[in-house]
Amino acid sequence: MKERLQQLQQDALSALQQAEDLKALQDVRVEILGKKGSLTEVMKGMRDLSAEERPVVGSLVNTLKKEFEESFAARQLALQQQDIAAKLASEKIDVTLPGRQTATGSLHPVTLVSDEVVDIFNRLGFAVAQGPEIEQDFYNFEALNIPKDHPARDMQDTFYIGDERVLRTHTSPVQIRTMLEQQPPVRIIAPGTVYRRDSDLTHSPMFHQIEGFLVDEQVTFADLKGTLVHFLNEFFGSGHKIRFRPSFFPFTEPSAEVDIECVICNGEGCRVCGKTGWLEILGCGMIDPEVFASVNYDAEKFNGFAFGMGLERLAMLKYGVNDLRLFFENDLRFLKQF
Ligand code: PHE
Repeated sequence: MKERLQQLQQDALSALQQAEDLKALQDVRVEILGKKGSLTEVMKGMRDLSAEERPVVGSLVNTLKKEFEESFAARQLALQQQDIAAKLASEKIDVTLPGRQTATGSLHPVTLVSDEVVDIFNRLGFAVAQGPEIEQDFYNFEALNIPKDHPARDMQDTFYIGDERVLRTHTSPVQIRTMLEQQPPVRIIAPGTVYRRDSDLTHSPMFHQIEGFLVDEQVTFADLKGTLVHFLNEFFGSGHKIRFRPSFFPFTEPSAEVDIECVICNGEGCRVCGKTGWLEILGCGMIDPEVFASVNYDAEKFNGFAFGMGLERLAMLKYGVNDLRLFFENDLRFLKQF
């Protein structure tokens, strides 16, 4: 009997050691001490023992039971710690890993060029003004000396919104809006989005212009020329030849277009300048007295100059971009380069 008990105890203790998790450990306990456990069975059989044997076996069973409980508790603690260690290992984070990079945006090349032009004119004392993109016929045409049915309207392929409203075809209406609000002297630079019904390799139905104008007493064409030559030298770097060509705009008289020696081939003649060696950059002129009349400025007392240019064209020349459409496709591989 004693040997049987000791054998049982040995098996039980080694089963405890072999239990690999808390569930298996509980199973061992049930096998030994549960209702039908092997030690429980032995205890049940004690009533068949003689009066001398019973206390001996009883005390042995108690000792074994105590030993088993102690072993069980020790093994349980070991397995619990093992669980915690495993959990800690799996949830560990490496605080020395580099953080995730956030993507930084960049300004669109047309915005960069607009900012730079505005900056150059700010330094000459010009203030920024803006106007609406949906414009009244009066500001876009009428007040700029382009009456209805006048052939000059054909210069600009207009998107009409009803009879009296248009998507502005140029930034010149900002001249009218400003002059109706302010008295001379005025010096304004006005960047903005404009629209024309035109779409091909070199034209987009939506594009950007920047308008500049100055009104004061005794303003001459020499002031216009000096201002624009200064601007072009600042923007493209000095050393490029510049020429003024007579031209026509209904709202300036006299009018001119300004060409700069090709900044790509330095006047040699290339694809960009159409082998001429010259690039057309802007339109300009002395503000027509008819315009002053429509804003109630005294044309005897005041005169002024105005100019306008396309920002996409400036950006193409400045950054050597050969396809206008790249500015509107929003391809990050293109935009990230600026
Ligand atoms: N508004 C003209 C255009 O869009 C440019 C211009 C502006 C010409 C101011 C002269 C004076 O073509």
